[in-house]
Order: sequence, then structure tokens, then C-alpha cells
Amino acid sequence: MLKGKKIAVYITGGIAAYKAADLVRRLIKQGAEVRVAMTKAATEFITPYTLQILSKNEVFTNVFEDKDPAEVSHIHLADWSELAVVAPATANVMAKMAHGIADDFVTTTLLATTAPVFIVPAMNTHMLENPATVRNWERLEQDGHFVMEPDTGFLAEGYEGRGRFPEPEAIVEAIQEYLIRQQTDLPLSGKKVVVTAGGTKERIDPVRYITNDSSGKMGYQLAMAARDKGAKVVLISASTQLKHPFGMEVVAVESAQQMSDAVFKEFESADIVIMAAAVSDYTPETQATQKIKKKENQMVISLAKTQDILATMGQQKSHQFLVGFAAETHDVAEYAMGKLEKKNADMIVANDVSKPHAGFNKETNEVTLFSKDTPPIELSVRSKRDIADSIIQEVIQKLSK
Ligand SMILES: Cc1cc2nc3c(=O)[nH]c(=O)nc-3n(C[C@H](O)[C@H](O)[C@H](O)COP(=O)(O)O)c2cc1C
Repeated sequence: MLKGKKIAVYITGGIAAYKAADLVRRLIKQGAEVRVAMTKAATEFITPYTLQILSKNEVFTNVFEDKDPAEVSHIHLADWSELAVVAPATANVMAKMAHGIADDFVTTTLLATTAPVFIVPAMNTHMLENPATVRNWERLEQDGHFVMEPDTGFLAEGYEGRGRFPEPEAIVEAIQEYLIRQQTDLPLSGKKVVVTAGGTKERIDPVRYITNDSSGKMGYQLAMAARDKGAKVVLISASTQLKHPFGMEVVAVESAQQMSDAVFKEFESADIVIMAAAVSDYTPETQATQKIKKKENQMVISLAKTQDILATMGQQKSHQFLVGFAAETHDVAEYAMGKLEKKNADMIVANDVSKPHAGFNKETNEVTLFSKDTPPIELSVRSKRDIADSIIQEVIQKLSK
């Protein structure tokens, strides 16, 4: 999403200035083109040379020193950038920005830019909570800038408080989310997409359960692909090892019953529901409240069928577009077409999990999309993110018809 994005990073004179080096590195890693400007105070904390090496571009510190005589540097940077990131933002720079003061390279360029401005304050708690800073923060938001909430934690001053510079990874995610929300004309803007992911756990006793090999990767990628197309996403996640993606609500569940409860809570207001979770078909009829002791040579666990969530949604749906998954080891097409019909789904994503590059826990997948009035679409082996993008694209196309 940041690929090719022209980002000007403005570093100001807080103790967290050194962390801006990592932020710049991460933005570049995401594909952004980064140019850096620093206040004089910032150069007391980290050298421009470090930022020059990382950004592979000259670093601007002096408004009267034009790197290229053919252009005025601050106007050029202001016009070049598609996004301005002020990180860390000192109380001083926030005050100047709120009042339109332009007395150095950073503040002059920020006054001259028409790019969206993303501000990351970092300072001592008392500076942050000073009525003047609170006023300036409010003014900056009123002016249309985005101000990110700083972390609460151990400050450089040696005590706990609000005002810490957030982890650079979290800032990059917040920037990405901000850029998505800025675009209100994305294909899924205003739509609510519910995605289920991961494998459910059906408890036998407090320490044992029945589960499956689902890693949740496909569902998580689908949730991210829908988010990047502007959707408001609710990701209902059964057990996975995956990090929660940014920019969406994540509801953690364990059993098929909890999955069903969570799905039906969101169903009415959903526009698209994608059932990528591997929901157990059966659950132990009874669950022991205490650990079952080893006794007989054989033990029989009686299982009861769980609710078929997709089929129930198929019966209840009004406006929702329903996508189901069929992970099979044989007769994939036949089973998928049957499932499409029986469950009243709008699309079935079928994969042959016996193939080496497809299915559970793999980084890649190979699927076929089955839907009612169109011939099957085969998506050959590719990353799960690419598969997710293609599925979401296909859903968008179907909805636009
Ligand atoms: C050791 C030290 C740490 C500082 N840390 C911060 C800080 O985290 N946040 C802040 O707003 N100001 C901090 N200051 C104060 C700023 O450096 C000072 O207000 C300066 O004028 C800011 O200049 P600038 O906004 O042009 O970068 C610190 C000062 C010192 C000496």
C-alpha cells in the first residue's frame, strides 16, 4: 500500500528522535520513497547523516540552503510529498504548527504542504497534558491533521506516563490505516465485511480438545485484502498463531458454538461474509469440567453435530453476499458445486488440500472459485495474499453487477 508513496518525514527535537531512523527504514521497506527534514534540535539527538544513509537522499535542515539552485528546497519537498509524517513531534513543533509559525525548514515546509499530515507526538506526560498542548492538539485536528495517540509506559524521565513514542511498526500500521480511511471511494468503502478464520477447538475436558490443521492464514489475508479495499472488517478468529492485523475489529473465539454466536451477532449488518474458518463439524456431546483420568484400555467420546453456520446463513440471508470454503482431498469441483447449491452461498472457494502448495498452514494456495452464473475461475499457485486479492476482486465485481 505504501509502494511508491512519496513520504516526507519531519523529525523534531525529542528524545525519541533516534527511533525515527527505524521508522524511516520501515517505511522504505514497505516500498515508500522517503525524504527527511529535521529541526536543529533534532540534530542534537541524531545526525542527519544517519537519516541520509537510510533514506538514500539528502536531509533538509536549513531553509536558506537549497540543495539544488534550480529549486527552493522547502517548496519542492512540500509539493513533492504525498504524505507528511511528523515523528516525533515535539510540544514546540505542535504549537508552531497550530499557529502557522514557519521559522525553520520543518515548520516552513509543513505550512507549505498540501499533503495530508500525520503527527506522532512524543513528550513528557506533563508537557502533553499541559492545557496549551491539549489546545494545540485540538487545533491541529480541527485543521484536518491526524494526531496519533502516544503510548503510555516507561518514559525517558524514569517514570510511567502517557507520551511515549509508539513502536515504529505500530506507526507504520497506523499510517497505512490512515491512508486507507482517507480514501472514501474505494470499492468496499462503506461496506461491512465479516471474515472467519482459523480452526475451532472443541473441548473434551479443560486440557484436551479436538481441532484441525487450519492456520488461519487464508482468512487473515482475506480480512486484510478487504480492509485495503476500504471495508470495515470484523475478523472472527478461532485459534491461530497470527498477529492481529491492523485496521479491523478482531473477535477471538474458540469453539464452533462461539464462532456461530459471533458470526450471527454481525450477520444482519454485514454486506459480505467470508467463512474461511475451519469449523469443526462435530463436538463432544459432553465436556468434562475436570481433567479426565486414565482408566480403561479404550475410551469412547461421543460426538454431536455442530451447527452448519454457512447453511444457516444461506437460509437467513437477505442482502448479504456469502462466500464459503471447501477444503477437499478429492472430487473438489463436484463437492464445491454441491455446496454452493445446498448452502445457498454466492461463491465457494474450493481447494484440494492434498496438493503440495495448497491448503492448511501453507504460505501459498491454489483454488477454484465457483459461483452460480459464471464458469469456475481457476487461480493457480500463488501467495495467499494474491489469492485473497483475487477473491475480493471477484466479489466486488459480482456485487457491482
Ligand atoms: C534531553 C532532552 C529531551 C527532550 N525531549 C523532548 C521530547 O521528548 N518531547 C518534546 O516535546 N521536547 C523535548 N525536549 C525539548 C525540545 O528539545 C525543545 O522544546 C526544542 O526547542 C524543540 O525544538 P523543535 O521543536 O524545533 O525540534 C527535550 C529536550 C532535551 C534537552
